[in-house]
Amino acid sequence: MDLSELRHHIINTPLTRAQLEADPIQQFEHWQQQAIDTGFFQANAMTLATVDPHGHPQARIVLLKEITTNGFRFYTNYDSSKAQAIADNDCVALLFYWDKLERQVRIEGTIAKLDAQTNQAYFTTRPRDSQVSAWASPQSEVIKDQHTLLDRVTQIEQHFTDQDIPCPSFWGGYEVTPQRVEFWQGQAGRLHNRFVYIREAKTWRIDQLAP
Ligand SMILES: Cc1cc2nc3c(=O)[nH]c(=O)nc-3n(C[C@H](O)[C@H](O)[C@H](O)COP(=O)(O)O)c2cc1C
Repeated sequence: MDLSELRHHIINTPLTRAQLEADPIQQFEHWQQQAIDTGFFQANAMTLATVDPHGHPQARIVLLKEITTNGFRFYTNYDSSKAQAIADNDCVALLFYWDKLERQVRIEGTIAKLDAQTNQAYFTTRPRDSQVSAWASPQSEVIKDQHTLLDRVTQIEQHFTDQDIPCPSFWGGYEVTPQRVEFWQGQAGRLHNRFVYIREAKTWRIDQLAP
């Protein structure tokens, strides 16, 4: 099957309860792999929604970097706006939309920081220029202009000349533990398929929702 045939096959196959994995993280992995297989450039791009201390919602894209049996991980600056919102309210939402597959995944849950050792291990795998940017960018703060940022990059590069760059203490990962995960598959006539997983004591309940 070529890519467009594979996409058509996915779109034309309704999502049924019988196809669903018992665990939403496994179901998500399955769908993300299909997004990768059908040619999405950044199948791991997700909207992260947080709520700030005034109760105002904020949303931005981050990249999903790891999926564990517990949840979904991304990396960022621990002093950023999102980190300040998370420190005040650990309830967050993640959203994926793979347009050519007519698929949406909505994830709601709680979020927690990863430990320093995990952050360092991940940071080491990043390209050196990304490591430098992590140090140089005071993410979400007002800066005078682009030159200011580039000057900071030069200073950081000089500071770490001929050395490995350590993970800054103000940079690292978060893991979102899902409580509710919804899979949406577009269908003809707007009779879309929606299945939601709700966490119960030791298992997941799956309900079908009206579109
Ligand atoms: C495709 C894409 C991927 C991004 N990935 C990340 C990421 O993984 N981590 C991150 O901190 N910001 C990422 N960003 C930038 C964020 O959208 C956002 O501008 C930044 O994190 C600051 O958000 P905040 O001020 O709400 O904290 C990405 C943006 C785009 C468009």
